Amino acid sequence: MITIKGLILSGGKGTRLRPITFTSAKQLVPVANRPILFYGIEAIRDAGITDVGIVVGDTKDEISAAVGDGKAFGIRVTYIEQELPLGLAHAVKVSRDFIGRDPFVMFLGDNLIKQGITALVEEFRKEGPNSMILLAEVDNPSDFGVAELKEGKVIRLEEKPKKPASNYALVGVYMFDSSIFEAVENIKPSWRDELEITDAIQYLIDRRLDVRSHIISGWWKDTGKLEDLLEANRMILLDLDRDIQGKVNPDCRVEGNVVIGKGTEVLSSLLRGPLIVGENCRVEHSYVGPFTSVHDNVEIRDSEIEHSIVLSGSKITCIGPRIESSLIGRDTVIRRCSRKPRCFRFMVGDSSGIEVL
Ligand code: G1P
Repeated sequence: MITIKGLILSGGKGTRLRPITFTSAKQLVPVANRPILFYGIEAIRDAGITDVGIVVGDTKDEISAAVGDGKAFGIRVTYIEQELPLGLAHAVKVSRDFIGRDPFVMFLGDNLIKQGITALVEEFRKEGPNSMILLAEVDNPSDFGVAELKEGKVIRLEEKPKKPASNYALVGVYMFDSSIFEAVENIKPSWRDELEITDAIQYLIDRRLDVRSHIISGWWKDTGKLEDLLEANRMILLDLDRDIQGKVNPDCRVEGNVVIGKGTEVLSSLLRGPLIVGENCRVEHSYVGPFTSVHDNVEIRDSEIEHSIVLSGSKITCIGPRIESSLIGRDTVIRRCSRKPRCFRFMVGDSSGIEVL
């Protein structure tokens, strides 16, 4: 059987998730309390791929601290440094030594694909085309690479087109054989000064190589923006099974699929799933509603929150009107204060967003 390698791209600046990404890699932002990146690693492993390269940039130390040598996932990880974020095709270029002559699947570390990639990898293994791409129908094609199709075949790809030829976006999972290395050497940087993988695949199409496409019907998300991250969180939480390890006082109500981690205490509160609360948290006199992920060591008192992601170590106290559709960073304090004058007081990072009643 041919060996297929995995290549996960985990660099990039994550500008659309600032301020969170000032202090954390975008691929490590948790969805249902686990880094987004872990879902991609597991999809690759589940497809039978064990030799995985992870392309890293500025956040290399953080990514390697989280993933380690891959043993915990049942894979072997090689870290590949990309000194500057010069594009996805550039990431392929710097991975040449690791890939060698093997075919490989390239997975963008901030993408989530609910149904995994096993069927795609199987087909690639069996049929051996030069490349396979995945497409998904989206409402905002201009934010992606877009495919023009004719009689089911891709005839043209364009990166972030102003006038998209279709609603079919390129999903961040690609399969290649070694013909892609000639392509990435021969393309020119795009208007955003990056070597685009989209242009490299167009190079293969122009030379009549066998590039196949699949339209995926299942759920897929590029989690680069807040609303997409919240949607990913919703999708993953939908599959949650009830599992209560912490202590829930009898004066609480716990409805639906709720996960409560070890060492967490819940008092006089209503928890309505699907919802996950991590370890060593304290929830008191509060409502924590559906589609919320609360990470470890968080305190929520006399407050209401739903459809949100709260990262570790944060404290939310006495917030009356409900907090909704929010992403709250690590060790953040949001509280009501009786000090005079009665006013808003903020200490927020650069590129933050606050909406008040
Ligand atoms: C990249 C690709 C784009 C693709 C998208 C999927 O965009 O360039 O073609 O549709 O990933 O997530 P980027 O995240 O670099 O904006």
